[in-house]
Amino acid sequence: MSAIYITGGKPLSGSVRVQGAKNSVLPILAATLLSGGPCVIRNCPDLLDVDTSVRILRRLGCRADREEPGAVSVNAAGMDRFEIPETLMREMRSSVVFLGAILSRAGEAVLSYPGGCDLGPRPIDLHIAALRQMGAEIREEGGFLYCKAQRLTGCDIHLGTPSVGATENVMLAAARARGTTRIYNAAREPEIEDLQNFLNAIGGRVAGAGSSTVTVEGARHLGGAEHAVIADRIVAATLLAAVTLTGGDVRLTGARPGDLDTVISVLAKAGCGITSGGTEIRAKRDRAPRSMGRICTMPHPGFPTDAQALVMAAACRAEGVTMFSERIFESRYGHVGELLRMGADIQVEGRVAVVRGVAKLYGTRVCATDLRGGAALAVAGLAAEGETVLSGLTHIDRGYERFEDTLKTLGADVKRM
Ligand code: UD1
Repeated sequence: MSAIYITGGKPLSGSVRVQGAKNSVLPILAATLLSGGPCVIRNCPDLLDVDTSVRILRRLGCRADREEPGAVSVNAAGMDRFEIPETLMREMRSSVVFLGAILSRAGEAVLSYPGGCDLGPRPIDLHIAALRQMGAEIREEGGFLYCKAQRLTGCDIHLGTPSVGATENVMLAAARARGTTRIYNAAREPEIEDLQNFLNAIGGRVAGAGSSTVTVEGARHLGGAEHAVIADRIVAATLLAAVTLTGGDVRLTGARPGDLDTVISVLAKAGCGITSGGTEIRAKRDRAPRSMGRICTMPHPGFPTDAQALVMAAACRAEGVTMFSERIFESRYGHVGELLRMGADIQVEGRVAVVRGVAKLYGTRVCATDLRGGAALAVAGLAAEGETVLSGLTHIDRGYERFEDTLKTLGADVKRM
C-alpha cells in the first residue's frame, strides 16, 4: 500500500499554479453527453475522479480521450447505452450528475446509488423529486434507479436545500428539455457558473448561475465547444491553510481569489498576510498562527465545508481556541481522530468541534478517511515534529493532482513510496 512520507518543520515557499477544479470538471464532463459535436475540456486536472468520468463516458458509447496533458476530448455522438455499472457509480459522488444528462439524451437511465466520501447520510431525494417534476418516471429498487422520460419538460423547481449536485442535475436535464426550467434556492457555488458557461458554449440558454435562481431554456440541439475549467478553490485553500500553519511565503497563480473570500478572511485572522491581484494570491506568515474564533460552514458564499478540515489542521497549532460548526454534513469530522493521534487537542460534540491550539504536533502513522480530511492530515504533517506517514491515498488522488509534487515544489520534505 503506498503512503506519503512527510518530514515536518519546513516553512513553505515558492510559486505553484492551481489545478483545474474537480467539482467543475466532473459535471462538465457529464454535460458533454448533451452535445452532438466534439468537445475539448481544458485545464482538466489529472485525477482519479476524472478517470472515472472518462470510463463512464466510454461505457456509454462515447469517445473520451486524454489526447494531450491537461485536456480531455469527448465526442458523445455515438452514445448508445444508458446504464452506468455499480462499480463505477460507487467510485464517486459525482457519478449521480450523469443521471440528468443520460435521461435527457437517451430518454432512459439505469444507475445505482452513488459512492463518494463518507460524510454521513448523503441522500439524493432532491435530485429525484426534481426530475420527477420534469416528467421522469423513476423507480427505486434494490439500490438502483430505473428512470424513463420521453422528453423532459421544463417547470419551476424549488430546492429545499441549495444542493450543488441537485442544481447541476436539473441544469443538465433542463438544457434539452421542452420549455423553461427555473431552479429556485439553487446552489450558488462558482462551479455552477462554470457549468452554465459550458452549457452556453455548446449552445444552451442558461442564466442566473451564481444567484439563487437559475433559468434554463431548453434547446433541441447542442453542439461541440472548447472550454477551460476554472481554478480549484479548495486546492488553493489547502495551500493557504498549509502556509498559515508552516509559515513561509507562497504565491499561487492561475487562481480565483474572489472565490476564496471567506477562507482568506479566516486565515487572515490567524495572522497570515494574504494579498491578491488578478489571478494571483500571495500568502506570507512569519509569526505563530492565532485562533480563528468561530467558523460555521455554509453554502456558498459562506465558509465552504470542503475547507473545514484543512483550516482545522492550521487551528491545531494556533494560539487559543478555534470553534468549528459543521452545518452542511452530519458527520464530517473523520480527520479528528487522526489529528488527535498527532497530538492535537480537539473535542467534538455533535456538529461542533472545539480546537485548542497546542505547541507541537508529532509525526506518526495516519490514514486518510476522506478526500479533504486526508489532505488536512498532510497539512498537519508539514508542521509536525518528525515523520508523518499518510496512507489511504486513493481519497487524496481523487481530488489532488500529484499532491506530493505540489508540496515538494514549495520546499516541503515529502515523498510517496
Ligand atoms: C458538493 C461537492 C462537495 C461539497 C458539497 C457541499 C461535488 C462533486 N461535491 O457535493 O465537495 O462538499 O457540494 O458544498 O461538487 N442533500 C439532501 N438531499 C439531496 C441532496 C443534498 O438532503 O438530494 C443535502 C446533503 O445531505 C447535504 C446538503 O444537502 O447536507 C448539501 O449537499 P450537496 O450540496 O448536494 O453536496 P454534493 O453535491 O453531494
